[in-house]
Amino acid sequence: MPRIPLVDVKAQYAPLLPELKQRIAEVLEEGTFVLGPNVAAFEREAADYLGVPETIGVGNGTDAIVLVLNALEIGRGDEVICPAFTFYATAEAIVRTGATPVFADIDAATLNLDPADVAERITPRTKAIMPVHLFGRPAPLAELSKLGLPLIEDAAQAFGSPAVARAGVASTFSFYPTKNLFAIGDGGLVAVTDPELGERVRMLRFHGSRDKVTFEYVGTNSRLDELQAAALRLFLPRLDGWNAARREAVGRYAELGLGELCDLPTDEPGHVYHLCVARSAERDRLRAALTEAGIGSAQYYLPPLHLQPALRYLGYREGDLPETERAAAENFSVPLWAGIGAEQQERVVQVIRAAARVPAAS
Ligand SMILES: Cc1ncc(COP(=O)(O)O)c(C=O)c1O
Repeated sequence: MPRIPLVDVKAQYAPLLPELKQRIAEVLEEGTFVLGPNVAAFEREAADYLGVPETIGVGNGTDAIVLVLNALEIGRGDEVICPAFTFYATAEAIVRTGATPVFADIDAATLNLDPADVAERITPRTKAIMPVHLFGRPAPLAELSKLGLPLIEDAAQAFGSPAVARAGVASTFSFYPTKNLFAIGDGGLVAVTDPELGERVRMLRFHGSRDKVTFEYVGTNSRLDELQAAALRLFLPRLDGWNAARREAVGRYAELGLGELCDLPTDEPGHVYHLCVARSAERDRLRAALTEAGIGSAQYYLPPLHLQPALRYLGYREGDLPETERAAAENFSVPLWAGIGAEQQERVVQVIRAAARVPAAS
């Protein structure tokens, strides 16, 4: 039996390979490699797509967060509330500015920040809330907005969702190659709703300068390169189709009965299914069966961020974020990409069916 990977990035761009090579050749002939015409064009096209006044291409999704926090002058002595059930970079970026991440628990049904728990963790030092649109599912922005603090959306996993990049003062994206919109290397983007904030991020990504002569801030060097922008410009018009294919594939898992064997993510407007993350109390056994059958799977954020060694100094202990800890113990993702075959999905469900003992909750 052929292996089924967790994600097959190459299958997504394979039909575009001749055109991709052409675009790469054009960049090589042009001879501009950093912040050239493709980056400028992609920044405009991404802004139009997202419905924001401005976007800024940066080196990766982690730098995108740091740059936004720097531009907002959030740093030492400040607190930013974020989930602990997210990729480490969310909190690491906050720490890199000198600020303190304050972890709030998640909603068990959505795996996104629980606004009621966020509200309880607000202090006079809280300068922003950083919701993560986890696994492509929009975070509860309307409820979080009511808490009266600036929202910085970590949208690394949710490019293409019409629900993101509207409520926050800024949103950050990653184009790491497994993301819904992906580059052929590292890349990231900041989308702003306030052009003045955009201007500061634009300067900070290049050493705090507008003109490479006068340096007004201490910034960094984190720029999107032309090859990445050329690939992203080719892929962006295909994104809605790819996201529709992801949604269809998750629907097929449900039709095949996977939801009776474990808890599948529930649908919601704007959910772009970066990953298909299921839950089961038998997670470890199901994953072992998948591995045995040559099928890729993964589990996320275990230990969750509040229990990671680098963040021990924050003083959290096991039991502090019960829903986060439960989700970390139970979640696993099954293969998903735009273009996964129905037979591949049938095999995934067959293997889980043979290994599952306990019917899914509810
Ligand atoms: C939620 C989240 N935030 C931030 C990042 C960081 O993005 P990058 O890997 O491009 O630095 C990622 C990337 O995996 C992510 O999933």
